[in-house]
Amino acid sequence: MASEREPIAVIGTGYVGLVTAVGFAELGSEVWCVDIDADKIERLKRGEVPIYEPGVEECLERNRERLHFSTERAPALEHSRLMFVAVGTPPTYSGDADLSAVESVVAGMPASDRHALVMKSTVPVGTGAAIKRRFAEQGKEHFGYVSCPEFLKEGSALQDFLKPDRVVIGDDGDWAGDAVVRLYEPFDAPLVRTDTPSAEMIKMASNAFLATKISFINEIANVCEETGADVLEVARGMGLDHRIGEHFLKPGIGYGGSCFPKDVSALKQLAGNTGYHFQLLTAVIEVNELQKRRVISKLQKHLGSLVGKRVALLGLAFKANTDDMREASSLVLSARLLADGATVRAYDPVAEEEARKLMSGVEFASSALDALDEADACIIVTEWPEFRELDWRSAAQRMAGKVVIDGRNCIDPDTIRAAGLTYEGIGR
Ligand SMILES: NC(=O)c1ccc[n+]([C@@H]2O[C@H](COP(=O)([O-])OP(=O)(O)OC[C@H]3O[C@@H](n4cnc5c(N)ncnc54)[C@H](O)[C@@H]3O)[C@@H](O)[C@H]2O)c1
Repeated sequence: MASEREPIAVIGTGYVGLVTAVGFAELGSEVWCVDIDADKIERLKRGEVPIYEPGVEECLERNRERLHFSTERAPALEHSRLMFVAVGTPPTYSGDADLSAVESVVAGMPASDRHALVMKSTVPVGTGAAIKRRFAEQGKEHFGYVSCPEFLKEGSALQDFLKPDRVVIGDDGDWAGDAVVRLYEPFDAPLVRTDTPSAEMIKMASNAFLATKISFINEIANVCEETGADVLEVARGMGLDHRIGEHFLKPGIGYGGSCFPKDVSALKQLAGNTGYHFQLLTAVIEVNELQKRRVISKLQKHLGSLVGKRVALLGLAFKANTDDMREASSLVLSARLLADGATVRAYDPVAEEEARKLMSGVEFASSALDALDEADACIIVTEWPEFRELDWRSAAQRMAGKVVIDGRNCIDPDTIRAAGLTYEGIGR
C-alpha cells in the first residue's frame, strides 16, 4: 500500500538502525534497509529479529509490507531521498571513535542533488563538517547532510524511539533538514533544530553527563560504605530535588554497554585533540573502572583467597532487557575472578550466546539456581527481574557458601537474610 509519508533508507540494521526502521515503518514510511551483514539481512527478510529488544519483532511483523531489506544500496537510493546512517562507531585503541564504517557509507554515495545523509550514528563533533568537505572534494557538494543523533536506550529502544524526550536536528536549514523535521512531527516532542556541530555535541555531552552522574553516585556509595549512610536513602533524598532529578542516581558495579564507555572516551579524546584536558571525564572513566573491580575486594573480605572458590555470576548483559554484551561489567569481573583462581559459573536469560563468544574459561548454567549449585558466593551483575523473584531459600540450600553480593542493589536484603544468606549491596 502506497504511503503518504516520506520513504526513507536506513544503512546499518543493528540496535539503532533496526529500531529506526521499524519505528518509522510503524508511522507509515516505506523503509529501505541496507546492511553489509548478509546473514542478518536474510534473517530480517524472514521476519527474524537478530537482537533481543522488546517489541521490535512484533513491530517488524506488523509492518512487513513497508520494510525492505537488502545488502545492496541501489534500491534504497532509488526509492528514498533520506539515507539514515546507523552503522557502528566503536572505540579505537586510542579511545577516539572508529569512523571507518561511516566513511565506507560516505564513500559509496553517488553524486546527487536529490539525496541526503541523516547521521544517527554517534560521531565526534566535526564529523558532519568533514563529510561535507569530502563530498565537495569529490564533486558531490549537492549531497545533503543532516545530523540527527539518537538517544534511545537498549532494553526500551522502540518505546524511547517513538516517545523521545526531544528530537535534535542539526543542518544547514535546507530541504533535507525540513524533510527530517516533517518525519518527526508525529512524535510531538520538543525539537532542537540547530547547526550540525552543536547537534553532534548535544549527543556526546548528554552521554558524558549521564556517565558522570553514575560515577558520582558510585563514589557517594563508596563513601557511604565507610561512613554508615545508606546510598539508596541518599539518592532518594537527592533525587527529589528537581535540579538534580532521580534518574541515573543508581549505584552499582559501573556502567557498560555500547555507548557510555566509548562516547565518554571519544569526547575526552576529542577535547584532547584540540589541546584541552577534560579532567572531569578522566575521573569519570577511572571511577567506573575501579567500581567494577571493587566487587573483588568485597568477595575477598568474606572468602579470603579466591583460589579454588566457586563464584556464580547472575546476569551477564550490560543491563537488563538486552542481550548486548559490549563493555559489560561481567567481562571484567569474570576475567578478574578467573585470574585470581576462582571457578566462574554464569547464567543470563538472553545473553548467553553472545557471552560464550567473549568469556572463555567460564561455565554456563541453564538457570539461576543451576548457576548457584555448590557456589561459595554469588554476584548479581545484571538486574534481571527474575533474580528478584528467585526462590532464595532453595538457592541457599544449593549454595556451599553464604555470600550474595548484589551489584545492582536490586534484591531486598531482608529476603536474602531470611534465607540464611549474607547480603552485601553497593553503598548500603
Ligand atoms: N545501541 C545504542 O543504545 C545506541 C543508542 C544511541 C546511539 N547509538 C549509536 O548508533 C550507532 C549504531 O549503534 P548500534 O548499537 O546500532 O550498532 P550495531 O553494531 O548494533 O549495528 C551496526 C550495524 O551496521 C552494519 N554496518 C557496518 N558497516 C556497514 C556499512 N558500511 N554498510 C551497511 N551496514 C553496515 C553492521 O553490520 C551492523 O548491523 C553507533 O554510532 C552508536 O554509538 C547507539
